Amino acid sequence: MVYEATATAPVNIACIKYWGKRDTKLILPTNSSLSVTLDQDHLRSTTTSRADASFEDGDRLWLNGKEESIKEGGRLWTCIKELRGWRKAEEDKNAELPKLAALNLRIASYNNFPTAAGLASSASGLAALVASLAGLYELPQSPSELSRIARQGSGSACRSLFGGFVAWREGKEADGSDSLAEEVASREHWPEMQALICVVSDAKKGTSSTAGMQHTVETSPLLQERLRVVPKRMDDISAAIKARDFDAFARLTMADSNQFHAVCLDTAPPIFYLNDVSRAIIGLVEELNRAHLAKTGHLLAAYTFDAGPNAVIYAPEANMPTIVAAVNRFFPQAEAFPDPFKVGTAAALPEGFSEGVIRIGGWEKGAVKSLIHTRVGDGPRRLGPEESLLGPDGIPK
Ligand code: DP6
Repeated sequence: MVYEATATAPVNIACIKYWGKRDTKLILPTNSSLSVTLDQDHLRSTTTSRADASFEDGDRLWLNGKEESIKEGGRLWTCIKELRGWRKAEEDKNAELPKLAALNLRIASYNNFPTAAGLASSASGLAALVASLAGLYELPQSPSELSRIARQGSGSACRSLFGGFVAWREGKEADGSDSLAEEVASREHWPEMQALICVVSDAKKGTSSTAGMQHTVETSPLLQERLRVVPKRMDDISAAIKARDFDAFARLTMADSNQFHAVCLDTAPPIFYLNDVSRAIIGLVEELNRAHLAKTGHLLAAYTFDAGPNAVIYAPEANMPTIVAAVNRFFPQAEAFPDPFKVGTAAALPEGFSEGVIRIGGWEKGAVKSLIHTRVGDGPRRLGPEESLLGPDGIPK
């Protein structure tokens, strides 16, 4: 009998950003946050977890084929310990369950996108780890309960345990029991929502999110103003999502991204995640919105940036041909764009669009390296044994 489970988990990109911890050990945030889960058909982490009596060398884990150490007291260790504890509790209740909690684990995880692309690989990776262990241990806990464990692996990972539109409620309890993720709306509620990721740099970022946000908490006076305005933004964006009001969703998403980068600049020493290309993409989207608004009374797109220079542009499906054409025209990519939605690059720019906002002479080829076109997606999926990442010997295939 092989005791094993394989699961995949999605990437999520926040519209209302998590930036700051009130408890760094339990990973409790200074504010609630809200994200859109992206489609695992395009971006995902896959994790296989196996428990076996023949594994004698402790728990072992491989990430993209490379073994990583599981440091005692570290984030991975904590997630494994908590889930094993829940399994033990089930075994204590039901003597017929196999004693998996006592067995060592082998865990293999794989991202189908470059870890260093600045995409949220820690979020999908930790969520896939939690989903695969919950499968292996046949845990009865709900996704929200599991999200409390994923949160301790990486804050943003708790939101990857759900599909659709997801809130991470900051919670009030000191033990973190009420700091968890929950679904605000399913993907089916607003399936037209799509995302275009503009990969600006593959380079590893200078300041990690973990270190950067603590410097902000310690030094930024502007963060206090941010903490004052975020609760209303959370209410307003939830209402916008429920009403499928893209204009309100877009205004809040762009304002929150800009405020997040403002508190980064307000940190001492300042943290710069955006670069010239990122700012030029902001200029492009703002001008597309201005022209589209003048013509139709609605916004075309919303940009948001995490702790790196890549842009994520959210828009309803109907607007994507215009956005893809505009990005392609002003930021010609170095790599071919295998668009799963095949929107093409021929759409016209909105009437009245002013090219004056774009750098004279345009951007050199490769300033935007590649594009990833995806859409709102579902939560973690359980895969069959044929998808296992581990060979019969318990080593990654
Ligand atoms: C800018 O979840 O990576 O992407 O909890 O320290 O692991 P840790 O940080 P992490 O921070 C993500 C920050 C962000 C905003 C967001 O996803 O909400």
